[in-house]
Amino acid sequence: MGEVPDRASSVNFGLEGLTTKRARQIVLASIKKDPAGDLHIEDTPAMKNYRLLNPEFRFAVFYPETGALLPGSSSELADYFKGQTTQIHIIGSMFHILNDPNERSRGYIRVANTRFGLLGTIVYGAQFHWDDIAYQLYVNFNLINIVSYLPLLVVLSVVALIVMTNGLRPLRSAASMVAEIDLDTTSRSIPLDHLPKEVTPFVEAVNGAFKRVTDGIERERRFIANSAHELRTPIAILRSRIERMEPGELKREIKRDTKRVQTILDQLLVLAQMEARGNNHALGAINLSELAKNAAADYSPIALDLGKSLEFNGPDEPVFAKGIRWAMESVMTNLIENAVRAEPPGGTVIVRLSKDAAIEVVDHGEGVATADRERIFEPFWRKSENTPGTGLGLAITKELTTKLGGSIELLETPGGGATFKVTFQQFEDTPRPYQKNSSDQLLEHTGKLTAPS
Ligand SMILES: Nc1ncnc2c1ncn2[C@@H]1O[C@H](COP(=O)(O)OP(=O)(O)OP(=O)(O)O)[C@@H](O)[C@H]1O
Ligand SMILES: [Mg+2]
Repeated sequence: MGEVPDRASSVNFGLEGLTTKRARQIVLASIKKDPAGDLHIEDTPAMKNYRLLNPEFRFAVFYPETGALLPGSSSELADYFKGQTTQIHIIGSMFHILNDPNERSRGYIRVANTRFGLLGTIVYGAQFHWDDIAYQLYVNFNLINIVSYLPLLVVLSVVALIVMTNGLRPLRSAASMVAEIDLDTTSRSIPLDHLPKEVTPFVEAVNGAFKRVTDGIERERRFIANSAHELRTPIAILRSRIERMEPGELKREIKRDTKRVQTILDQLLVLAQMEARGNNHALGAINLSELAKNAAADYSPIALDLGKSLEFNGPDEPVFAKGIRWAMESVMTNLIENAVRAEPPGGTVIVRLSKDAAIEVVDHGEGVATADRERIFEPFWRKSENTPGTGLGLAITKELTTKLGGSIELLETPGGGATFKVTFQQFEDTPRPYQKNSSDQLLEHTGKLTAPS
């Protein structure tokens, strides 16, 4: 601060040194020259603030040659050095006044070049404050300091980088685990081993949240599955009562409406069934040739009733895929049902199986507009409210296919119409018959999906 720096100024005594240095800098900054050219110490705002912070603070500034004090100085403080300042050259010295009741009080006397020439300063009684450190950093922030600390800074930065990289590695792998969690995998939790202990409470809280969400989802799934299951009995009773009604328009309408409710229930049960399994599917070897051929054959009479036909094309040798029979049957029935509905009267729906475990269901109807190609797989989406379906079939088909590790895509039939292509996982090894799982029994109660009315 206007002072010519020398080495002695940086040789101080720990935190006390920082305090006396700041006090001196404030005193030096408060020296002003009046119009006549004389110096005095002014009570500047910075000085006022500092004195407010340090009620015991006293200071004095003197000319070393004469010992004369600048106006504003504490003569009582200067008296302790009376006669000495002209006798010895004081480079810099920390001191304590013996009769001061506060044993921790420190002072500093120093003679050095300032912007007003050679001046002696004495400060005493300032207390250490944490911002003294920040003040020194701020005052000493210049290029020379940065350059002299550069090697140290580089070493510290490298060390910090290594520590941070190693310390955060477990956190990064935990983050990638969290990123992979979706509705099917909420039951996972982040392992606590190797994590820095500072983040353990946070990770435990996240794991707790996952657990609560998983339990909530489980409860909801069970509720839907149970509701759908419970509703099947009254619907069956209702249908048998309708059968006993006198034939007529009203009977036909009630029959159609009940069948629709039955279809929604069946679809919900299929979904609940698949979700109950989570990701622990026991995938067996399924003979796709047999499954696709049977699905087409089963639906043929219904198609014929509607004036349409169904055809199966496939390789001579059987094609095996990894899967669950009832889920794959449900996929086939949904696609065939839609295709038969879309096929114009007199037309033929083709079920085509290829060696790479892909099945195409091809119709020659209106096809699906480009804008609807994504929405078609959303639950309850139907192009028209007047069609008999519920809008759940394709959503369930997609869900089942994905859960089986396969995929579904919608293509355009050459010449017009829609082609739904489902690709299952190929079964390369020797086929092993699919083992029934206890949870399959729920589905077996639901029977086949119903035909379009
Ligand atoms: N092959 C197709 N050609 C043209 N449009 C189709 C075809 N398949 C489905 N769609 C359209 O997509 C909608 C949704 O089909 P989705 O199978 O999900 O439901 P749905 O057949 O209406 O009812 P359900 O739940 O009984 O299957 C259908 O209502 C229909 O508008
Ligand atoms: Mg459908």
